Amino acid sequence: MKNNSEDIKETIDNRFSEILFDKNDIEKAAQRVAEQINNDYVNTTPVLVVVLKGAVMWAGDLFKYVSIDAETDFINISSYKGGTKSSGQIELITDLTVDINGRDVILIEDIVDTGLSLDYLKKMLVNERGAKSVAVATMLNKNAVRKADVSVEYVGFDIDDVFIVGYGLDYKEIWRNIPFVGIINPEVI
Ligand code: PRP
Repeated sequence: MKNNSEDIKETIDNRFSEILFDKNDIEKAAQRVAEQINNDYVNTTPVLVVVLKGAVMWAGDLFKYVSIDAETDFINISSYKGGTKSSGQIELITDLTVDINGRDVILIEDIVDTGLSLDYLKKMLVNERGAKSVAVATMLNKNAVRKADVSVEYVGFDIDDVFIVGYGLDYKEIWRNIPFVGIINPEVI
């Protein structure tokens, strides 16, 4: 008879075919990216904008190591609607609460894939909201399927074109809570 923790581990193993980055890998990447931000934003107080929902866990790691003065805020957009392909239609679900006019903004993203979400956000924050600058700090960067010509300033990991979940990323809204970035076992979806 197995105990509970063995059961849980076995369940996780069955749902995922590969762990790409575990929480230690990701925390180290967050520390590295935060140090770059600390060096680049010494004379300003940027607004760190967490792009919901996927960026929550990465943002939590990153925030621990950003030691400069910074404000934080949240914005919620959606394009994947829980599926595996971008709909191309970006929907603004919850807006900022901070006035970013004239401010340096750093978007915190879990993944840049087609780049359409980032392109939408950068253009909207500069053209409509008057941001002085908009950079992005993303946990994952998938270059292979880029559809928008958008700059990606800070990257945790570059990845190939595989569909991953965990550490904030979902499949049909589940598995955001999994403490690693992994590949789904194709037999379970
Ligand atoms: C995901 C992710 C990025 C975007 C990246 O968000 O968090 O914002 O897609 O993909 P792209 O580069 O192809 O636009 P999603 O729309 O799935 O919302 P979520 O964060 O709530 O899961």
